[in-house]
Amino acid sequence: MKLIDTPGKNCREFYKKTKLIGRTQNACLYGITFHEGDGNYVIDVDGNKYLDFLSGAASNTIGYGRRDVVEVYAKTAMRLQHSCYPYTFNKEAIELAEKLIDITPGDFEKKVLFDLSGSSGIDGAIKVARKFTGKKGIIAFKNSYHGATGLAMQATNLVNLTEGLFLDNGFFHVNFPTEEEEISDILAQINALLQKGVAAVLAEPIQGDGGVLSPPKNFFKELYYSLKEHDALFIVDEIQTGVGRTGKWWGIENFDVVPDILVCGKGISGGYAPISALIGEEKMVDSLEKVQHSFTYGGHPPSCAAAKKVLEVVEEEKLMENASRIGELLSGELKELKAYNVVKDFRGIGLMLGLEIVTENLAGIAGMRCIEYGLYPGYYGKYNEILRIQPPLTLTKKEALWATKIIKKVIEEIENKEIPKNTIEKYKKYSCGIGEKIEF
Ligand SMILES: Cc1ncc(COP(=O)(O)O)c(C=O)c1O
Repeated sequence: MKLIDTPGKNCREFYKKTKLIGRTQNACLYGITFHEGDGNYVIDVDGNKYLDFLSGAASNTIGYGRRDVVEVYAKTAMRLQHSCYPYTFNKEAIELAEKLIDITPGDFEKKVLFDLSGSSGIDGAIKVARKFTGKKGIIAFKNSYHGATGLAMQATNLVNLTEGLFLDNGFFHVNFPTEEEEISDILAQINALLQKGVAAVLAEPIQGDGGVLSPPKNFFKELYYSLKEHDALFIVDEIQTGVGRTGKWWGIENFDVVPDILVCGKGISGGYAPISALIGEEKMVDSLEKVQHSFTYGGHPPSCAAAKKVLEVVEEEKLMENASRIGELLSGELKELKAYNVVKDFRGIGLMLGLEIVTENLAGIAGMRCIEYGLYPGYYGKYNEILRIQPPLTLTKKEALWATKIIKKVIEEIENKEIPKNTIEKYKKYSCGIGEKIEF
């Protein structure tokens, strides 16, 4: 297998200049700077090519260089690049709203609010829940990541991300169940909190940054019944799970329950435009007063047109089916790795997969070794212990099989302590990630 000397000279030069951008926006994985994309591959500023197994943090749904999407964006921008939707409407925002309502579960009247990032979409959902119920409390889960804006950051509970920010109270965090036996205790805690005036429970259907953790099948359904008894809402954060990644439009569809509010971002525009949205029951969404959650760039015409095109591509090219099929293929191959001592678990649904590596931080080393072989995965989890596998939904069988060979080789090298010293040095120098980095 060919090895790449990465990060190369140009990447190293750019790496030095990253000091121009604040430390908080640096959770560097490998010290690489990208220059272009090509289908399911990304190419760095040294010309090194990698098969993309991270998709810009689960955003790149349909691959790089999609002329059809870029043309829709460009044509719309040439005609009307902006209207400031709250003042004067544009048809692209309305058409995207129609599409989102159409593909979101729930046999009730729905409305959409547009945002610029997943985080601000979560802020919107929390505002809606508080205004609609007249209650303040928000229950979220330990190990969750919901974003970095005001309310989303308070809902987040991952490592020490909220440290020193003097955030407001009103947020409660309970354990996220992964085993059937945990459900009754967790529901008991939630039921106790519901007595205190809770507006909503906010959950990722499958925790992403926390480490690709799925709850038992019936958890959300049971939770939903409790919420309805206490007039509290169920908000799902589909920012990472959404748009086909689990083989269905939305991750929550794997759990047979209809949320009151669904928040999506990342993959809805395939990385071609920064846009997010919340979709919720009409009477809830419309509890917010004029301009309590509205943005100059929310409902931006070219971004909405591009997102609608991406959703059409997902449907027309049967990419949800592909995510299931290729996901099963990857899972079939990679779960064999559990036989190795250094692999603790392999889990996930569709193309939202994670390989848990036993010793903290080895996922970072595994990732660093993968990129030397030309494969670009991520890593996350509390200790960066999960190799993050989230390729574009357009991944082919051939690409998937090639990637499994690389991952198997890397795990074998870790097991046999054959990772070259130089790779470990690079890991120590460049790798950071969101989780706590444990020095060794
Ligand atoms: C589950 C989840 N929610 C919310 C967010 C925040 O989205 P954004 O970074 O677009 O604000 C993320 C981003 O990683 C996420 O994974």
